[in-house]
Amino acid sequence: MKKSRILGVGRYLPEKIVTNFDLEKMMDTTDEWIRQRTGIEQRRFAAEGEGAALMGARAGEEAIKNAGLKKEDIDFIIFATLSPDYNFPGSGVFVQDLLGIEPIGALDVRNQCTGFIYSLSIADQFIKTGMYKHILVIGSEVHSTGNEFTTRGRDVAVLFGDGAGAVVVGESEDEKRGILSTHLHSQGKYAKELWVEAPASILHPRLTQEMMDQGRHYPKMNGKNVYKHAVTRMPEVIMEAVNANGYKISDIDLLVPHQANMRINEYVAGTLGIAPEKVVHNIQKYGNTTAATIPLCFYDAIEDGRLKPGTLVCVAAFGAGFTWASALLRW
Ligand code: ACO
Repeated sequence: MKKSRILGVGRYLPEKIVTNFDLEKMMDTTDEWIRQRTGIEQRRFAAEGEGAALMGARAGEEAIKNAGLKKEDIDFIIFATLSPDYNFPGSGVFVQDLLGIEPIGALDVRNQCTGFIYSLSIADQFIKTGMYKHILVIGSEVHSTGNEFTTRGRDVAVLFGDGAGAVVVGESEDEKRGILSTHLHSQGKYAKELWVEAPASILHPRLTQEMMDQGRHYPKMNGKNVYKHAVTRMPEVIMEAVNANGYKISDIDLLVPHQANMRINEYVAGTLGIAPEKVVHNIQKYGNTTAATIPLCFYDAIEDGRLKPGTLVCVAAFGAGFTWASALLRW
């Protein structure tokens, strides 16, 4: 069977930088609280009109260029986000239009922090079967328009940032390089531990003024419970990827964990005995960018020289759903 490989990586980051000190002016929080609990120092916020699709398209253009391809070479788009431009249609079709590559298919994936790994897994299957040759996989988020920047919303609002990352997945010319395996999990009984309740088609009506006054249209998170599950599931799913390929944890050259909290990632790496220099972090600069996080980490690790042909890289994520996932790649 064919093996798929990431051929190129791209990103798009909005210009506006929002520091913890900026947030201190909007709510009862401190730089010290945010930094100590999460490792976040600043994040980016999108400008008006800079939607998930537009940012994703820009990241996609760079990924296509870095793959040495032309837009016309892309034959499918997979778009992962929890913050699509509109309720429907999904943002993938807007990317298709912005890139002007009609009439290829565009699939939206709604798996929050694990959205990029779920999408990578889908792309991998399509490439392996020969259905498509070059798939553009995008993770893109605009959180800044969806959170509550008041003391009531501070536990969630300080965590997230906007941005987009993209990769092109295509057939590997070298059978030793590429996506070695992907591992996807969920546990829907915890769906309401981290969610946005409204507007919702299950409610009649979907949204009322009363619901908005109660803040039920903002994300809600049981942070402690999410943390507890994350520090269990992340090591578990990393070991699943390592074991599935007959490797040892010490064989991993680079760990790219989802960036929800620096403390979670330090704990996970420590538990598994992975040296700090083998772990990629970008949460200090960007906050939690959800589906965009992992491709944004790839971008940084390529720039700092840690991610190069032959690197054995493990990616892992945990988030809303609950969902968790991993992939092992020989870069
Ligand atoms: N600034 C100052 N104080 C705050 C803030 C803030 N921004 N937010 C909460 N507090 C206060 C709380 O009110 C509470 O005060 P109290 O003790 O007087 O009641 C205190 O700080 C502690 O709050 P906790 O919520 O218990 O803080 P905790 O130590 O659990 O840290 C955090 C919170 C950082 C969110 C942590 O729980 C966490 O990282 N959870 C996991 C997040 C995660 O992995 N999410 C999944 C990915 S996201 C996705 O999938 C979309």
